[in-house]
Amino acid sequence: MAHDVALIPGDGIGPEITEAMRRVVDASGAQISWHVAEAGAAQIERCGTPLPPETIELVRELGVAIKGPVTTPVGTGFRSVNVALRHTFDLYACVRPCRSLPGDGSRYRDVDVVIVRENTEDLYAGIEFEPDAPEVERLAELVAASGQKAFRPGSAISVKPISAEGSRRIVTYAFEYARRCGRKKVTAVHKANIMKATDGLFLRVAREVAESYPDIAFEDKIVDACCMGLVQDPGQFDVLVLPNLYGDIVSDLCAGLVGGLGMAPGANIGDELAVFEATHGSAPDIAGKDIANPTAEILSAAMMLDHLGEAEAAARVRAAVTATLAEGTTVTADVRRALTGSTAGAAGTAAFADAIIAFMSK
Ligand code: NAI
Repeated sequence: MAHDVALIPGDGIGPEITEAMRRVVDASGAQISWHVAEAGAAQIERCGTPLPPETIELVRELGVAIKGPVTTPVGTGFRSVNVALRHTFDLYACVRPCRSLPGDGSRYRDVDVVIVRENTEDLYAGIEFEPDAPEVERLAELVAASGQKAFRPGSAISVKPISAEGSRRIVTYAFEYARRCGRKKVTAVHKANIMKATDGLFLRVAREVAESYPDIAFEDKIVDACCMGLVQDPGQFDVLVLPNLYGDIVSDLCAGLVGGLGMAPGANIGDELAVFEATHGSAPDIAGKDIANPTAEILSAAMMLDHLGEAEAAARVRAAVTATLAEGTTVTADVRRALTGSTAGAAGTAAFADAIIAFMSK
């Protein structure tokens, strides 16, 4: 039976890399019925929002979507499509596996770290006050009345809400993921030594949840020490679970350990719905030139195939991507540069996808 999937090509390099992804998935043996839906800058002119209501409805109806990157217009007041999707569907877990690949140009080998980032709370919640907002004065009074150290008048304020419920579901997700995927250890990353209320709550809940998973090792690390540990010896880490902002920063750090954004897949997962997408943006500087690397998008599709119960097809896609990169003859310019120091002889996005498809039919 075919799986119905919403496909959002997006902006910039999105249409090229999603087309490459779609052809690879169609050749993997999985039966997917693709339903194309629009989102992105062009939609603003057409219907006044980058995320049209019919796209939201289609994603809601199908429950699974894969998207290309979407340009976030600067200074227009429009919310990022990704943030809007995460909030609309309560996609609370952002999962980003970072594994070494042949040709990733990294100085590290055998990196295999999975980032599980909380997606809905923290300084990312968007609760902010400009320096001249009347709320800032009221907050200053509240802080003074509570006996805490006053902040400077006219400060800008961002609020960091962290709840027990939000912490519990993301840490539980990380442990369930670890158990399902045969991982050995979960590390909770925080700054509870300084932010005793917010990160302290996250850490307390993480310790409680860990008690229900005696088969998985648990440790906690302060975020700055964790960053140093990641660049010194990434092999010591397995699954990392982090509040939103640290998760955002540490997932790019980890993408850097495995060759950068073009190689890093991702998923945004909620209880009802999942949206898969590469970590990188719409790369307007290389859009429409058939030179973007579709690896991250194709590996995001492999995560989607696992989610759909198509583990064999997912394994076939991963094996073919790895083999094509390892062979190194038909690879995109970024990989070619990492392998040889020059882009001479690089293949285009479509030709790279053809090579992956050829490996699958061997
Ligand atoms: P970017 O990730 O689009 O590009 C950064 C650099 O990496 C550029 O030099 C680009 O050419 C290169 N790059 C990115 N993906 C590549 C790929 N697959 N193959 C080869 N090279 C690649 O980040 P930037 O420039 O900060 O953002 C551009 C737009 O994308 C912005 O409007 C931003 O808001 C949006 N964005 C969207 C995301 C999404 O929809 N998931 C995520 C991040 C940014």
